[in-house]
Amino acid sequence: MELKELFQIRRSVRSYQEGKTVERSVIEEILRGAQMAPTWKNSQTGRYYVVDTPEKLSEVQKTCLPSFNQKSSSHACALIVTTFVRDVAGYTAGNPDNEMGNQWGAYDLGLQNAYLILKARDLGLDTLIMGIRDEKELRRQLDIPENEDVAAVIALGYGDGEPAFRPRKDLDEIVKFY
Ligand SMILES: Cc1cc2nc3c(=O)[nH]c(=O)nc-3n(C[C@H](O)[C@H](O)[C@H](O)COP(=O)(O)O)c2cc1C
Repeated sequence: MELKELFQIRRSVRSYQEGKTVERSVIEEILRGAQMAPTWKNSQTGRYYVVDTPEKLSEVQKTCLPSFNQKSSSHACALIVTTFVRDVAGYTAGNPDNEMGNQWGAYDLGLQNAYLILKARDLGLDTLIMGIRDEKELRRQLDIPENEDVAAVIALGYGDGEPAFRPRKDLDEIVKFY
């Protein structure tokens, strides 16, 4: 699909078709798409915890998401929990290269997550990035190591309906040319 078209049709989807599944090979293709994003010194510190078995999916939804995100992600085929390894991106020999510190790791992960949701849409799947989640419970459920920061949980599935486009700010509100 043309990138222009992908930009136009991608939405955050909060309702998924029941009874659908997605092959692990498709999830892997999506994650390979995410890996194509640029990262700080190619450090590739993003990590992905994929929950795609029905029992674990419902356990993670119930224990790690607030009720509104549980509802939005119900019938999703998978939840992809995204993290990054701390103190690598933006760091040299354990010291931060500048004032941003670990925000560079989050920056890299955000770029990868952007590629991820676009690749998913390219393959006919929908997504919802969820930043409101229980970090401690995710660590416990998925054995996420202490040297990783937990970021978003991304629901992946086949959307039910077509959400409206959420308007973007005018360029002159966010851009200055010099
Ligand atoms: C970092 C981040 C965290 C988000 N967290 C949530 C969330 O917890 N629950 C939710 O319903 N939507 C969440 N969203 C989705 C945004 O509300 C959505 O992207 C925004 O309203 C624009 O809509 P669109 O994605 O359809 O273009 C999140 C998006 C981002 C990028």
